[in-house]
Amino acid sequence: MSRLDTQVAIIGAGPAGLVLSHLLGRAGIEAVVLEDRSREYVEQRVRAGVLEQGTVDLLDDLGLAGRLHREGLVHRGVLLGFDGRRHRIPLSDLTGGRAITIYGQQEVVKDLIAARLAAGGPIQFEVEDVELAGLDSTRPVVRYRAGGAAHELHCDLVAGCDGSHGVSRRSIPPAALTVYEREFPFAWLGILAQVAPSTDELIYARHERGFALHSLRSPEVSRLYIQVAPDEDLAAWPDDRVWDELRARLAVDGWTLAEGPVLEKSIAVHRSVVVEPMQHGRLFLAGDAAHIVPPTGAKGLNLAVADVRALAQGIAAWYRTGDTAGLDGYTARCLRRVWRVQEFSTSMSTLLHRLPGADGFDERLARAELDWICRSEAAARSLAENYVGLPFDD
Ligand code: FAD
Ligand code: PHB
Repeated sequence: MSRLDTQVAIIGAGPAGLVLSHLLGRAGIEAVVLEDRSREYVEQRVRAGVLEQGTVDLLDDLGLAGRLHREGLVHRGVLLGFDGRRHRIPLSDLTGGRAITIYGQQEVVKDLIAARLAAGGPIQFEVEDVELAGLDSTRPVVRYRAGGAAHELHCDLVAGCDGSHGVSRRSIPPAALTVYEREFPFAWLGILAQVAPSTDELIYARHERGFALHSLRSPEVSRLYIQVAPDEDLAAWPDDRVWDELRARLAVDGWTLAEGPVLEKSIAVHRSVVVEPMQHGRLFLAGDAAHIVPPTGAKGLNLAVADVRALAQGIAAWYRTGDTAGLDGYTARCLRRVWRVQEFSTSMSTLLHRLPGADGFDERLARAELDWICRSEAAARSLAENYVGLPFDD
């Protein structure tokens, strides 16, 4: 058994764990990142694509946004499709110039891993059997196996950044946590396609056959989603059927959807989860380990970044002065944003999807809301403010 000592043990090399490792590095705090997958796996995993203004600003501030600025696509508006037409929400005009940037999550992850390793920051990939112990003590221990051998990482604090299926949340006694959960009666079938996007800005479309989203990754690669049933079988969706459905749901007169080879296809269920509190003893949860939001608001990655920004500030203040206020207030500070985002993501999901059992009344309510967003600048501004992301709270 080998023993290693550090200040902060970070479990998980997703956006939350990696951004935290950089923020701590900048503050002169030592951290070790433990990840159960291989480097190749986490760098290829296709997930989110929309970065809020605040996320981009933070990566910029850390000197990590070079490729993001060269290759990312800055969007100043977003399109809502319904009743065979499209309406543009001018995001930047409504939010004092704020914008979103389209840049794949796996590209963010690649950039953060490369920079962290280049700075000499340890990331241990392919660890197994991670266990957290002594969370109520002043020196917790993370036990794990790597390369066939047993290891112990002794630390002051543990950051649980290991997503919704990780070990961190499970290490908190159930009686110490309240879990708020909601399943949505739909899922998204997503494809990544080797074809130039047929739109300059994202299209969120409400249609009687179900929701569709046209997003992008680059001038050559498109990302598209359709609403399907939560128990849908991927095998029932050959590429032609996906394109037929996308064409039908995104249709407006005079516009054609360009098709191309499908590079990746998967189904993601829609779920909301929040655990309260986000901390237990010396363990602090961040990102998907603490909360999941349905993807309609494009917020998961951005929330993860906001969490670790607050956590890094709390940790840095504690090491600098011994002041525990930032760490003690971590949960309350994060949850305010988390619940705002849950509300926004749930409203967007409900507005744009076709819910099983919905009747003419529901249909008319949704149309009335979309019509209101088109007619009222206040309603459009509210959507825009939430979509580009709330400024950080300090
Ligand atoms: P993660 O990115 O999940 O990172 C956690 C890391 O911890 C992973 O690398 C994992 O391998 C590692 N890990 C897990 N268990 C252990 C362990 N025991 N020990 C060590 N390491 C461990 N959001 C959107 O906005 N749009 C989308 O289209 C979208 N699609 C998604 C599709 C899927 C399938 C999923 C799961 C999420 C999606 N999200 C989407 C949400 C978004 O990707 C997440 O919110 C974001 O990844 C959160 O980052 P994170 O670092 O908290 O967690
Ligand atoms: C994506 O590009 O993957 C994407 C865009 C917007 C969303 C969700 C996912 O709301």
